[in-house]
Amino acid sequence: MDIKENISLKAYNTFGIDVCASKYAEVSSEEDLQHLLADGILKECPFVILGGGSNIVFVKDFDGIVVHPTNKGINIISENDNEAVVEAAAGETWSNLAWTMTRQGYYGLENLVEIPGCVGAAPIQNVGAYGREAKDVIKYVVAYEIATGTKKTFTNKECRFGYRNSIFKNELKDQYIVIAVGFALSKTMEVTTNYSALTSMLCDRNITSPTPLQIAECIADIRRQKLPDPKEIGSAGSFFKNPIVTHSQLEILKATYPNIVCYPSGEHYKLAAGWLIEQCGWKGRSLGKVGVYDKQALVLFNKGGCTGTEVVNIANAIVADVESKFGVQLEKEAIII
Ligand code: EPU
Repeated sequence: MDIKENISLKAYNTFGIDVCASKYAEVSSEEDLQHLLADGILKECPFVILGGGSNIVFVKDFDGIVVHPTNKGINIISENDNEAVVEAAAGETWSNLAWTMTRQGYYGLENLVEIPGCVGAAPIQNVGAYGREAKDVIKYVVAYEIATGTKKTFTNKECRFGYRNSIFKNELKDQYIVIAVGFALSKTMEVTTNYSALTSMLCDRNITSPTPLQIAECIADIRRQKLPDPKEIGSAGSFFKNPIVTHSQLEILKATYPNIVCYPSGEHYKLAAGWLIEQCGWKGRSLGKVGVYDKQALVLFNKGGCTGTEVVNIANAIVADVESKFGVQLEKEAIII
């Protein structure tokens, strides 16, 4: 397979950061991946698996091989009266999968339309939005072990999904390359509409029994109101995770900040990081060529020609301010390389 040298990654990361990779390989089929693994190059030099590049910030040129899955395909594997199992290739655009299945009337991916990135990356960080997470619909993940070239199918349970987390970010970090993902989608009405902006938009549109497509259209409109258009403004979506705190930590914070925005999350509580950042006065501000989006403070964006270091600098300044005001540690969701 073709391994290119000294390739600019500007078009391959949604922040639009202009760095170079010393080697670059596109994986356009499962056979390509088998050849790449048989070649052994991934055991010899540093590598990064780059999907849509929507959650990554390069701070310098990458002296190693960038592996970019581009294999395509969305296939219904099995179907009964209630459910369809759909397998999508890792290089398929996530939003294309979500819209395609939603338009065909399947329930499950409608809240997740317009999330930038590729199918193969979705299980790694368990992408989520508006009350749904990829883990709610992923049935299995097909991946190859880099060390042995062996193919393995992980069940949903084996993926150990958590909030923006999975086994592929922990015990199996950098050990597998995802080639396809299987989804179980419902054919009967199963919607999640409790996210307040979605509830009120459905109400405004007089929709009481929404089809998946009606939900997806609302979600796309909500995203347009809150998030920058990835085609126009470079960003990595939410730059930070929403921090999880215990009930007693929350009570202490509430004593000083009674309006703190939080949601129950299992036994704990999730704080709205966007609110914490806004309270520190960062919303709409910038440092160097990186801005904090004025409609959603969780999003850092490229004001034009920013470097990865500038992104990290503003992120660190925000982390320090949130820590000093609230005593809460923000964790970066984006991966810094
Ligand atoms: N808020 C503020 N100021 C802000 C932003 C948010 O006060 O600048 C408060 C508001 O009260 C708002 C609440 O925080 O109601 C929650 O904000 P939002 O609904 O926008 O969600 P989020 O928790 O900030 C998460 C995901 C997003 C996803 C939305 C919607 C994370 C890290 N981010 O953001 O995911 O679209 O929920 O479900 O969990 C992404 O991962 O790239 C991403 C965009």
